[in-house]
Amino acid sequence: MIGEVGGQARGGLDLDGLRRVYGTPGHRLFYTLVCRRARHWGWTEPGQSKWRCWRAQRQLEGVLGRKLALPPGSRVLDAGCGSGVVARQMAARFGLRVTGVDLMDFHVREARRLSARAALEERTAFAWGDFHELDLPAGSFDGVYSMETLCHAHDPARALAEFHRLLRPGGRLVLLGPAAVPRAEMPDTQQALLDPYLDAMVLPGARRYTTRTLGGLITGAGFRLEEELDATPYYLPTTEALYGYFRLPYAVLRRLGATEHWLGLRSTVEMYELRHHIAWMVHTAVKEG
Ligand SMILES: C[S@@+](CC[C@H](N)C(=O)[O-])C[C@H]1O[C@@H](n2cnc3c(N)ncnc32)[C@H](O)[C@@H]1O
Repeated sequence: MIGEVGGQARGGLDLDGLRRVYGTPGHRLFYTLVCRRARHWGWTEPGQSKWRCWRAQRQLEGVLGRKLALPPGSRVLDAGCGSGVVARQMAARFGLRVTGVDLMDFHVREARRLSARAALEERTAFAWGDFHELDLPAGSFDGVYSMETLCHAHDPARALAEFHRLLRPGGRLVLLGPAAVPRAEMPDTQQALLDPYLDAMVLPGARRYTTRTLGGLITGAGFRLEEELDATPYYLPTTEALYGYFRLPYAVLRRLGATEHWLGLRSTVEMYELRHHIAWMVHTAVKEG
């Protein structure tokens, strides 16, 4: 399904839940002001200051562009594009032609507006759509990526099968995002923290795969796995910095009982508390010709 903003979702999607996560004024304010509209973590090299989160976000986008390793002009799908920050980086820095899809109509509108402002309309297009099922011809893309979105999938295997269908033979897939370690390796106290967090943030995908099983899901969808990188050491500085910045404001909100309106803050604080049981993975795969 792909179309104009405001389309109807089908299947097991929790659209209301996602609207609650991304649509509350507190959450939108957090992502607009704090994250400059990028809804993703960052990549910090050894020796760099952890406090420079915006630089870390640009560096993470650079990692994505290099893993995609596609020539300028290649057609790429951004599955779960948010406000299109990543798509614009791929277009401006790597010369890619990016189609972004997202379930939040306000994200799609914002992405279009910001791309027009950046004079990147020629190389970026945005549409409302569910990445489990997109009404686009098979083989439409040279590359597909998902920046911290597969964790939202209610059926990650189906989403991966759709990415496989949409790629041409030889096309490349890059998935970046968090995955929990297997439950058996997690103390009960951490499990008790993780599950309500995943539910509140509408992250059913993160319940359906772990650090150990995601690679198998990717190969099960027909891909050849080129690289499975546990990039946690590069992500942890962002986790620590965000915790440092927002621990106290979040504690105040908690006392006021207002945390449900500030889910972005909840992410930054609870991700820290779970940091030893969450890995940040970068998977690179190829659809064999
Ligand atoms: C964590 S944000 C990441 C946004 C963007 N990739 C970025 O890095 O700024 C996850 C995004 O995925 C979108 N999303 C979640 N499930 C989706 C689905 N099934 N199809 C399309 N978009 C989806 C959400 O609306 C949200 O904008």
